[in-house]
Amino acid sequence: MKTMVVTGGTDGMGAALVRHYLRGGEQVVVVGRSRAKFDALVAAIAAEGVPLVAERSHFHESDLSLITDCRRLLEHIRGRFERIDVLVLAASFIRQKRHVTREGHEASWALFFVSKYLLVTGLADRMVAAEQPVILNFSVPGAKVDALDFHDLELTEAFSFARSNAQQRRANELLGILATQDPNISYVTYGPKGLVKTSLAGDVGPVIKYASVLLAPLIGQAPDEAVQPLIALIADPPLGRVAYRGPKKVPLNHGTDDEFDARRLNSLVENSISGS
Ligand SMILES: NC(=O)c1ccc[n+]([C@@H]2O[C@H](COP(=O)([O-])OP(=O)(O)OC[C@H]3O[C@@H](n4cnc5c(N)ncnc54)[C@H](OP(=O)(O)O)[C@@H]3O)[C@@H](O)[C@H]2O)c1
Repeated sequence: MKTMVVTGGTDGMGAALVRHYLRGGEQVVVVGRSRAKFDALVAAIAAEGVPLVAERSHFHESDLSLITDCRRLLEHIRGRFERIDVLVLAASFIRQKRHVTREGHEASWALFFVSKYLLVTGLADRMVAAEQPVILNFSVPGAKVDALDFHDLELTEAFSFARSNAQQRRANELLGILATQDPNISYVTYGPKGLVKTSLAGDVGPVIKYASVLLAPLIGQAPDEAVQPLIALIADPPLGRVAYRGPKKVPLNHGTDDEFDARRLNSLVENSISGS
């Protein structure tokens, strides 16, 4: 039996993966903010007659934009599981405007990058214990290599949705360099092929609302269908650090200083969260 951790596992594509693997007999730790959504998800799978669903599903309520919640989550997982086979990073809350958490961090940077950084680095030893460990990071690949402002990672000046999005995506590609220090770990930066019919949770303006409320239900893929390429990647993980859009492998953008940039990012993030 595999042990999987799925952030954002209460809804959308994360929940579609949770459904698939609970049906298949695996053990899943679901991370989200809504226990009610988790309970409904588990009840629906149990109602299909799938055995031992309650025993194989665990919920951890966390607001992953908070460093303290991330640390609590890590402590919980580390105390309970010696081996993690699959880590899926799918938690998402889209903010088009700058928002600061009660801990003083820019919320999108904290959720879409820092929480992932903490989980990837904090669970590395548990993943190395698995036979074919794989990290699936939902983060659309292809950001420019100079997208990070190392002097202002939380964009205190000149915040824009586009810059914030590009920074997280570049940082998540560099995170793959840190994640694959052990060559047995696969790290996939993943974006779906197109729109997917999910809640696209967030505090957003009319364009994204239009996409989520009108366009996605009309032209979007169903989440269960959209996660099929991920299921194939988990079954046969590619070696090292790779990127996919849907089923298609896409090239990573390589800069001349990627290794240096990854280490620089690592130390800046550690400094920024050391007091939290
Ligand atoms: N849907 C698309 O068309 C599309 C397109 C491109 C990329 N993506 C990316 O694919 C990934 C999955 O997206 P989705 O559309 O499937 O997601 P979604 O349906 O919007 O669901 C978001 C999930 O994230 C969790 N979440 C939100 N804020 C959180 C927080 N602060 N702490 C912990 N969990 C939190 C939610 O849990 P609770 O409700 O329990 O809080 C929920 O399980 C995201 O990275 C998204 O950016 C999606």
